[in-house]
Amino acid sequence: MDRRLEASDPSERPDSVLHRLMSGAWVAQSIYVAAKLRIADALASGPAPVDEVAERVGAQPAALFRLMRALASLGVLREVESNRFELTDVGTYLRSDVAGSMHALALTITEFDWDPWKQLLHSVRTGETAFELVHGKEPFDYLRDNDELRSVFSRAMTSYVTENGIAVAESYDFSHARTVVDVGGGHGTLLAAILAQHAHIDGILLDLPEVTEQARHELSSAGLEDRVTCVDGDFFTEVPAGKDVYVLASILHDWDAERARRILATCRRAMPEHARLLVIEAVIFPGNEPAFAKLLDLEMLVCFGGRERSLDEYAELFAATGFRMEKSFPLRAAATAIVAVPI
Ligand SMILES: C[S@@+](CC[C@H](N)C(=O)[O-])C[C@H]1O[C@@H](n2cnc3c(N)ncnc32)[C@H](O)[C@@H]1O
Repeated sequence: MDRRLEASDPSERPDSVLHRLMSGAWVAQSIYVAAKLRIADALASGPAPVDEVAERVGAQPAALFRLMRALASLGVLREVESNRFELTDVGTYLRSDVAGSMHALALTITEFDWDPWKQLLHSVRTGETAFELVHGKEPFDYLRDNDELRSVFSRAMTSYVTENGIAVAESYDFSHARTVVDVGGGHGTLLAAILAQHAHIDGILLDLPEVTEQARHELSSAGLEDRVTCVDGDFFTEVPAGKDVYVLASILHDWDAERARRILATCRRAMPEHARLLVIEAVIFPGNEPAFAKLLDLEMLVCFGGRERSLDEYAELFAATGFRMEKSFPLRAAATAIVAVPI
């Protein structure tokens, strides 16, 4: 036997580690079903017996017990006594009503990603996205034609952006800015976080018309309707001109170099000399440490035809479009903020 297979903790043996990794699809599906059935919402007020949860969520009790038991083995739930489960801290993020909820993200990973990811082999063999092969159209066209999935997708993006929005609002110096333009701003979570910290700032959110409709609703629920203007637009052609800070959060990674340059060039044309570009992305750093950015990069390969990039690759894109990288700083685990200056 290979001596490396003789680890003292059996779960840390290399073959066990590989086995656990290759079962990731089963884990993702178990979490998806928990999200779809809203099991975490059913447990929001405390531990509950399986029969009661089954009735509430519309599931067969014996099968639901097997799902909940598996989720307890993964640390998402805890079986507090026979047939009675509660949420763990991890599982709490599957509730749909908590700050930083990952409920929509769990739905998206199956309902948006699953079928294209089955064709990762195609993408790796050809370098082409699988999304178009499976759905016959590009992702944002597909979302435009699918109201329910678009709403879930935008809410999923909110899970990524909530903490980063707070981190950007706290760590970037907005003292000289009057107006921040969030280009491709989704439902406005990032902009809302910046405005919440900086009372002197107004915002403009630009996105596709089918998205700004919901953004208007979200921003007005947050009491920001007087401070944010939502603009229907296309970042390949024009963004509002003459403002102070332009944000591109999780935008450039969706696109190949040619289209990323077009987005940057549109921003550059709109920006006065004093303005700053704030790019927020999962930057790729060298090394073999666990890095979510490197998995997200595969998501970009499979679904969007974009990629996650290193700081050097961003510097190249900036140089080609009239910008210079001024500085970068880490936000949360996977995200980095990069500040670029017009030249
Ligand atoms: C990955 S999401 C990021 C959203 C938001 N910036 C965030 O961080 O949550 C990409 C956004 O780009 C928008 N988008 C895609 N194509 C666009 C276009 N041509 N013009 C403007 N927005 C576009 C999408 O509607 C979506 O809101």
